[in-house]
Amino acid sequence: IRSRSSSAASRPHLLRRAYGSESVPERKVAVLGAAGGIGQPLALLMKLNPLVSQLALYDIAGTPGVAADVGHINTRSEVAGYVGEEQLGQALEGSDVVIIPAGVPRKPGMTRDDLFNINAGIVKSLCTAIAKYCPNAVVNMISNPVNSTVPIAAEVFKKAGTYNEKKLFGVTTLDVVRAKTFYAGKAKVPVEEVNVPVVGGHAGITILPLFSQAVPKANLADEDIKALTKRTQDGGTEVVEAKAGKGSATLSMAYAGALFADACLKGLNGVPDVVECSFVQSSIITELPFFASKVKLGKNGVEEVLELGPMSDYEKQGLEILIPELKASIEKGIKFANQ
Ligand code: NAD
Ligand code: LMR
Repeated sequence: IRSRSSSAASRPHLLRRAYGSESVPERKVAVLGAAGGIGQPLALLMKLNPLVSQLALYDIAGTPGVAADVGHINTRSEVAGYVGEEQLGQALEGSDVVIIPAGVPRKPGMTRDDLFNINAGIVKSLCTAIAKYCPNAVVNMISNPVNSTVPIAAEVFKKAGTYNEKKLFGVTTLDVVRAKTFYAGKAKVPVEEVNVPVVGGHAGITILPLFSQAVPKANLADEDIKALTKRTQDGGTEVVEAKAGKGSATLSMAYAGALFADACLKGLNGVPDVVECSFVQSSIITELPFFASKVKLGKNGVEEVLELGPMSDYEKQGLEILIPELKASIEKGIKFANQ
């Protein structure tokens, strides 16, 4: 009888493709805000991810129930629920990836910036704990306004002396998910083949889908591109209005968050050519310190921030007009963190 390792060694191609626990490194993922509208389905999706060995679910209330429920699923990871600030350290300790969907969502008529007053404080305190308990973790920031919460996190980490710009990500994957869905519908191409980069930030006009780079190529009219751009920029508002006071996107966000966390884990595990759009510290694209663009993910987080590539005149104009708003949101976050 061959041992597991000798049989695996004789079939390296299978080993590389396999998701058996013997071939995949141990990885702890913590979800902060895990009992919320995003947190619960995200906990479920992370429990289904074979790259995760430990899943820590933290919230100010409700996590014991979520953890007991998700923990019964017969997949690889061990699940533990943590509730209240006194258990936050334990939840974070040893984490490779921390996903943050903690904070209040929008109601109809609100902008993401209207969430700043409450969510900035929540993010600041959670990031202070991350700096203390898992300073090397990759952080996936979902809490809005992302254009400000990411700069807040960076400032908190800088003050703690733990800032690593390669490991801080604003999650903009939902914008990409939406752009792909809307493009596929309009261009009448199979959605699973579609790719569209979305750059800039994550609020209104700062969300800039680059449909000129969309694949598969389709000859859409200018008006169609404009309508697709507007729909992508207003995708969050479309959901907020449809939910009529009951919050914002949770299920599609959990999907997008799980997709992005999976890409980060793959990068950490050394899988080559993992590229996703994300709002990261950026110096090559604009004069702004943070910008969403395609990013290559690797063993240390950001391996490379990729150039925007060729853009249409309409997209160039969109880039120019988003800069002042994005700049103000970034500065607001930095100022808050340094108060
Ligand atoms: P929700 O109210 O359903 O859940 C938020 C959870 O955060 C709650 O369970 C709450 O108890 C928890 N929470 C509050 N303070 C906390 C703290 N100090 N520590 C830990 N947990 C805390 O809201 P939701 O619909 O899940 O949305 C959460 C956030 O995600 C909102 O800010 C929303 O705007 C944002 N969001 C971002 C995107 C994106 O694309 N980046 C998409 C959708 C929603
Ligand atoms: C989204 O894009 O769905 C989120 O940012 C939530 C919101 O407030 O729109």
